[in-house]
Amino acid sequence: MKVHWLFLLIGVLQGVNSIKENNLKWVRVNVPQYRVPGETALLQCEYNLGNDKLYSVKWYKDHEEFYRFVPKFKPQTSSFKVEGVHVDMYKSDSKKVVLHSVNWKTSGTYKCEVSAEAPSFASAQSEAKMEVITLPHEDPVIKGVKDQYNIGDEIVLNCTSGRSRPASILHWYINEQQIQKPEALIEYPIETHPKGLVTSTLGLKFHLSNRHFLGGSMRVKCVASILPTLFGDERESDVQSLPIMRDMREALLLVRSSSSHHTDPMVYILLLGIFLSFVFPNIYRVNS
Ligand SMILES: *[C@@H]1O[C@H](CO)[C@@H](O)[C@H](O)[C@H]1NC(C)=O
Repeated sequence: MKVHWLFLLIGVLQGVNSIKENNLKWVRVNVPQYRVPGETALLQCEYNLGNDKLYSVKWYKDHEEFYRFVPKFKPQTSSFKVEGVHVDMYKSDSKKVVLHSVNWKTSGTYKCEVSAEAPSFASAQSEAKMEVITLPHEDPVIKGVKDQYNIGDEIVLNCTSGRSRPASILHWYINEQQIQKPEALIEYPIETHPKGLVTSTLGLKFHLSNRHFLGGSMRVKCVASILPTLFGDERESDVQSLPIMRDMREALLLVRSSSSHHTDPMVYILLLGIFLSFVFPNIYRVNS
């Protein structure tokens, strides 16, 4: 008796499988990870319907529908108001949506949902994030530098980023070592400027000691970067293969002791320089 049930079950499962194989197989979105305000963005939705017939393609931003394509309807396309989303209806269809003049509010998670007609009514979806960013035009600036320091003095500095959106993340380095001790760092609130751009400020506080003067000099550096979520996105997204984007701007402060003797109490700042490093390859190449 049990054996018969088992055969029946296997039969049912095989039946389900054979139906499945002819159905809508997969949906994949291709969404640019980064855009700059004012640009257009091409969102693509690829899918394999198998033997199914397309019923609808729907696009959502953060779960709000903004575009729909239904082949049976007249007109076939419709769009819905969602903040920051401006669909170019002439350039959008069953496989793609073009957004014109993106702005910061366009940032979000974009989902494409494909549904098949009867009898299968199968449905599948896929989503990806897009962030609209404004990179800083200015380098981070180190302030609070005195003309002269002695071993044992407390050094208190500020690093302020250039204006960007989202806010820049700041890191301090002494001799290429990132400072992570909370007691050495002073967090200040993010400051908002006209037009919505923001600056971040991070303080650094430490006592100057001989061990800072490896080879007679000390380098204090502040590095500003944007998009802390980048690496998370990168891992999450198997849809796009993009080069890792790094946008970092640095300010460098070099302090040199006045002699090669590490016991020398007098320390002079020989150079307060701005050191710039632009490492942002290829981000705007996506989709154009
Ligand atoms: C650092 O910035 C904060 C906030 O703007 C300010 O209150 C503080 O005086 C600054 N400190 C130095 C050393 O410039």
